[in-house]
Amino acid sequence: MLDQFKKDVLEGLSKENKSLSSKYFYDKKGDELFQQIMAMPEYYLTRAEMEIFTTKAMEIVESFGIDKLTKFELIELGAGDGTKTIRLLEELLKEKYDFEYIPIDISQNALDGLVQMLSEKLPTLSVTAMQGTYFNILSKLKERNEPKIILFLGSNLGNLLDEEASKFLYELGASMHTGDKILLGLDSIKQKEIVLPAYNDAAGITREFNLNLLDRINRELDGNFNREQFEHLPYYEEKEGIAKSYIESLVEQSVEIKSLNKIFHFEKGEKIHTEISRKYSEEILAKILIPTDFEILQIHTDSKQLFSDYLIEKK
Ligand code: AVI
Repeated sequence: MLDQFKKDVLEGLSKENKSLSSKYFYDKKGDELFQQIMAMPEYYLTRAEMEIFTTKAMEIVESFGIDKLTKFELIELGAGDGTKTIRLLEELLKEKYDFEYIPIDISQNALDGLVQMLSEKLPTLSVTAMQGTYFNILSKLKERNEPKIILFLGSNLGNLLDEEASKFLYELGASMHTGDKILLGLDSIKQKEIVLPAYNDAAGITREFNLNLLDRINRELDGNFNREQFEHLPYYEEKEGIAKSYIESLVEQSVEIKSLNKIFHFEKGEKIHTEISRKYSEEILAKILIPTDFEILQIHTDSKQLFSDYLIEKK
């Protein structure tokens, strides 16, 4: 992991248009900051999806189209703390569906917390937590013949470029059987006045989240970024529908990263691109699905039409 981080930082900062991958946001500090972002008043995504799960749990469960007597697997990718999913789990238990809940996460810590919470709140639920990367685990699960519903929530797909998103969904499909489904939570395209503050909260948590990447390089790769001389720079145009985050160098400066044996030069105003957060419409998702084996079956949306959970089916 460290070697990959080193390699990616070297490559990203050596390019003419500097970039760092948003996947490196999520160290221990970054995980904590992301939890705080989700509680910020400006970050509408989590609340909007929560509203869908709270007010439409029955509709969502019915849209799965699964017979109550047929055992199925409910698999969640990057389950986190399960606050949204628990609404769905409650509904499934109430309606006496026969299912196993399989949360997958890279963090054993996150899974332990989730399993503990579920054993207290839903003691009759059958849970098998699996630690690892999505594709490794899904390829194992493919051998099981029960129908699968995969949850991929929180607009996590949006942190991938459209081509990468197509590839990701295509590969997910390879671990699924015809008729299996994914419930895909995606943020909707909307005005700048709503999206931009979500990536630039007044309390400065998103700023910290973005700049933590520089601290992480300092900590793990022995760098000397002076974060006073960099600033968080968010960008969004509704026409394009992609929120982007950059780190801007406030002065002309050089930064040494000892473990790479390299000095990187920054012009005043030069930017490091750190994240994209794609916003979707049905048309955009349909385009992304063209190279995959999926089609859109149903769309569940919140009352303010901020966010949608798309149910897509493997053909
Ligand atoms: C995890 N992901 C969906 C978040 C998003 O909205 O793109 C990460 C995030 N970045 C800044 N704020 C939140």
